[in-house]
Amino acid sequence: MNQPSSPAASLPATRRGKRVFRSPRADGAPLGGLSVDEFLRDHWQRKPLLVRAALPDLQPPCDAAALIELAGQDDVQSRLVTAFRGRWQLDHGPFEAGGVPPLSHRRWTLLVQGVNLHLDAAEALLSRFRFIPDARLDDLMISLASDQGGVGPHVDSYDVFLVQLWGRRRWRIAPPGNDQLRTGLPLKILERFNPTDDWVLEPGDMLYLPPGWAHDGTALGPCMTGSIGFRAPSRHEFLREFLTDAAESIQGRDPRFADPGRARVRHPAAIPEALHDTLNDWAQSWRPSRAAVDDFIGRFLTEPPATVFFDPPSAAVSKRFLARARRDGLRLDRRTRLLYRRARVYINGEAVPPVRDRAARALLRTLADRRSLDGNEATRALAHPVLAQHLTDWADAGWLHAGGIGQ
Ligand code: SIN
Ligand code: CO
Repeated sequence: MNQPSSPAASLPATRRGKRVFRSPRADGAPLGGLSVDEFLRDHWQRKPLLVRAALPDLQPPCDAAALIELAGQDDVQSRLVTAFRGRWQLDHGPFEAGGVPPLSHRRWTLLVQGVNLHLDAAEALLSRFRFIPDARLDDLMISLASDQGGVGPHVDSYDVFLVQLWGRRRWRIAPPGNDQLRTGLPLKILERFNPTDDWVLEPGDMLYLPPGWAHDGTALGPCMTGSIGFRAPSRHEFLREFLTDAAESIQGRDPRFADPGRARVRHPAAIPEALHDTLNDWAQSWRPSRAAVDDFIGRFLTEPPATVFFDPPSAAVSKRFLARARRDGLRLDRRTRLLYRRARVYINGEAVPPVRDRAARALLRTLADRRSLDGNEATRALAHPVLAQHLTDWADAGWLHAGGIGQ
């Protein structure tokens, strides 16, 4: 096991194939001296990357007090992991005032999920990672830990960028292989953890880990860490949702088993062959149409988390919407998921009726990719009757706002 390294100065440029970068790039991707293409080719889903000063001017999206306040809200998922006197404990939020120990008390971590859904600064940090498609980006989780706090050595099934936001954290990592968990604990902690690398991250440093790499982060004094998490649906997850949705949609045309003229039974407990064959045939012959699956994929990938509730604007704001949008532009609510594929567009779990006009469709795609339109673009979009209706409906639902980013 390596000793914790002291900060950047002592780190070699290459260490067991994991390159360590220091100078930031001009294109906004927080990958040090590495280009996005190089990162995707050599590291994404393949091997870890430590980037020193990945986000050199990083301001944490919130301070400790604001994070604790978020963890008190009903619409925020949060967990508190404590290891007081060597005993692991996991509690789920929301946490009332005083429910989170003081930072002077060692060995606890508060993990707050989906901070990007609540704070513009967190959304801005997450958007630095849009070199990965929105359909794969999940959320920004922020953890706040007291000295020696952590969640123990564990494995995640998703890629993660761990960004040190405040204070220092020691990260030890190990390649995939040892997945056996300790038993009798409220959280998934590895039975064996033999770290091959050991780093101390300072504010602005970042560690990328592919799925399956074991890792253990220990706070060195109070600290905050941001985890940029990704979505990678499993087949089971996807089919469970798809089949539930399909079951609802086939309710309309619903044949029922019937057995007129059937013979009397001699063995009442035997499953009748005709009943069995009909059910078997229903199961084997059911095939969703390609269009129905395409439609579901778009809705599935844009479904907002269950904790998200949009705030429809007041009537007065709705009335001024068009004039303001033409003047100041449009921006998606930070919680809105807007994705497209070919000619189809999906928003917040709904398939948008096709927009046939090519120019209007191009504006819709710009809105999705940039998450905003300027005043000129909004004016052109609102001149198109079908698109104007969609945009107005979305504004009424609180999914879209008039005005630029930050207004
Ligand atoms: C943490 O921030 O404490 C945990 C993040 C992780 O291990 O994925
Ligand atoms: Co993890």
